[in-house]
Amino acid sequence: MIKLDKRLSSILNEIEGTVLADIGCDHGKLTISALVNGKCQKVIAGDISADSLNKTISLVKELGFEDKVECRVSDGFENIHEDLDTAVIAGLGGYEIKDILSKPFPQIKRFILCPHQNVMIARRAINQIGYGALKDYVVKEGKKYYQIIVAEKDLPLYDINELRFGKNEPESDDYYQMLKDRKAVLENRFLGKEIPKGEMQDEYQEIIRCLK
Ligand SMILES: C[S@@+](CC[C@H](N)C(=O)[O-])C[C@H]1O[C@@H](n2cnc3c(N)ncnc32)[C@H](O)[C@@H]1O
Repeated sequence: MIKLDKRLSSILNEIEGTVLADIGCDHGKLTISALVNGKCQKVIAGDISADSLNKTISLVKELGFEDKVECRVSDGFENIHEDLDTAVIAGLGGYEIKDILSKPFPQIKRFILCPHQNVMIARRAINQIGYGALKDYVVKEGKKYYQIIVAEKDLPLYDINELRFGKNEPESDDYYQMLKDRKAVLENRFLGKEIPKGEMQDEYQEIIRCLK
């Protein structure tokens, strides 16, 4: 019915329980797929933008899922107060995710995050709220790499060496390919010269460590 790319189907596979919140639902493909595939029984689909949310509302109506989806304009969890089994926040940046997680949110068993940039900031935010990563892995879609974080309570927090590139758990070739590609980008940028001290040098050294 709805075709998902590798990123969204990987996220879909991680959804568990009865009630899902899809934060930043936009097109609504994940919301509907979660129900169609029996990953949950009910979805609260939230988006900060009424225009974006309207795309989900249209899809929900078109496919006849009005009794299983509640659509709400909401900045993060601002208008979502019920207990949730899973909350997905995908396609937002690390700083937006940090902002959402710094405000009150309901009881949530599992977070699934897929930041499109600044993933390290999202990992710090997960540490900050006291959740730990059950999984943290990379999927490649076309030329882009996406990092998927599955976090629950009562699990060890990220240690300092895991903040930038995660845990590679479960292990995947995409993780190593992401690091090799990034290493090549940094090396090409400085064309054999030493990478200047600071953020990029730190990142480069970390890539070398992770590839060992
Ligand atoms: C790029 S789309 C991602 C859609 C979908 N989650 C995915 O991963 O394919 C980002 C969506 O997040 C919404 N958004 C941005 N900030 C938000 C916030 N603080 N709370 C809820 N939604 C937000 C945007 O309006 C937009 O619809």
